[in-house]
Amino acid sequence: MTLLDSAIVRLLPAVPKPVVRRLSSRYIAGPRLEEAVRVVQAANAAGKLATIDVLGEEISDEAAATAIVEAYEDVFTEIERRRLKSNVSVKATGLGLALGYDLCRANLERVVAHAASSGNFVRVDMEDASTTDDTLALYRDLRGAGYDNLGVVLQASLRRTLDDVHALADLRPSVRLCKGIYIESTAIQFRDYEQVRASFVQALDALLAAGAYVAIATHDEWLIERTLERVTELGRDAYEFQMLLGVRPELGDRLVADGHRLRIYVPFGEHWYRYSLRRLQENPALAGAVARDTLGRLLTRGV
Ligand code: FDA
Repeated sequence: MTLLDSAIVRLLPAVPKPVVRRLSSRYIAGPRLEEAVRVVQAANAAGKLATIDVLGEEISDEAAATAIVEAYEDVFTEIERRRLKSNVSVKATGLGLALGYDLCRANLERVVAHAASSGNFVRVDMEDASTTDDTLALYRDLRGAGYDNLGVVLQASLRRTLDDVHALADLRPSVRLCKGIYIESTAIQFRDYEQVRASFVQALDALLAAGAYVAIATHDEWLIERTLERVTELGRDAYEFQMLLGVRPELGDRLVADGHRLRIYVPFGEHWYRYSLRRLQENPALAGAVARDTLGRLLTRGV
């Protein structure tokens, strides 16, 4: 990232919301479920699976958390009705974690039970480090209650992740492994790019050794290469790659053409702002995008 990009990343929260919305539109299916359905249908037609995410996090009232649960129920109805090849991703704070563990657990169980009734699967995204313990506890809790259609996420940038892999091993978990987008203190997080990569590979090895189903969620070609070196002798059903909507689709096309399973993360909904900021903050071409957007608007105004 250039110095200009880093400066713009810091200033992003001050950028007007309509500009953020325009710049981030490639990362989000749209405000409504029907838009997510169309994106998933296109991905499926291109040989890609999907995971649908109802946008919404850090929910602080019970009714809003219930609305998110209901939105997921609508998602499952559409997945079944349209025979979409898609599961769902949820966030604990979207299901009310800030209001209490028990409420969140009840909401998550409702979503997972609904998924189970149609043979579908739910993955709990991993959010900032203040939620890691609770998110892993929710996972263990519901697996203990007999829900095998539930997966979790581990973040390679956290120093604790290898310990978490070992702690989860008895569950033969389904784990999405990613670098981790949230900035934490250096006491608990690797910041160095190569250290994060090394931690990713270590966690991947430990997960494969534990017999976990691993979803390798990255657009980093170096990590994809390291993964391919490791999974060639495993069956194609033992792992999948995952990528975000709007990020490096050509890389995904290559994996699909080579016969690998690839799942695209498809977020939709009205609560698009926080997710959009995170995606823009990691876009290496951010400064160029902001400059083009600004220039485009000035030109259309005829200034
Ligand atoms: P890296 O950031 O090094 O990117 C590699 C290359 O990909 C870049 O050089 C660039 O070419 C391209 N790229 C990456 N991001 C881009 C962007 N926004 N716009 C344009 N190009 C971009 N995190 C988390 O903390 N909890 C979670 O639950 C999840 N869930 C999740 C699901 C899925 C399916 C994916 C792919 C990712 C996540 N993440 C996540 C996010 C993850 O932690 C990480 O922040 C991003 O994937 C970016 O890291 P990469 O591994 O892609 O490497």
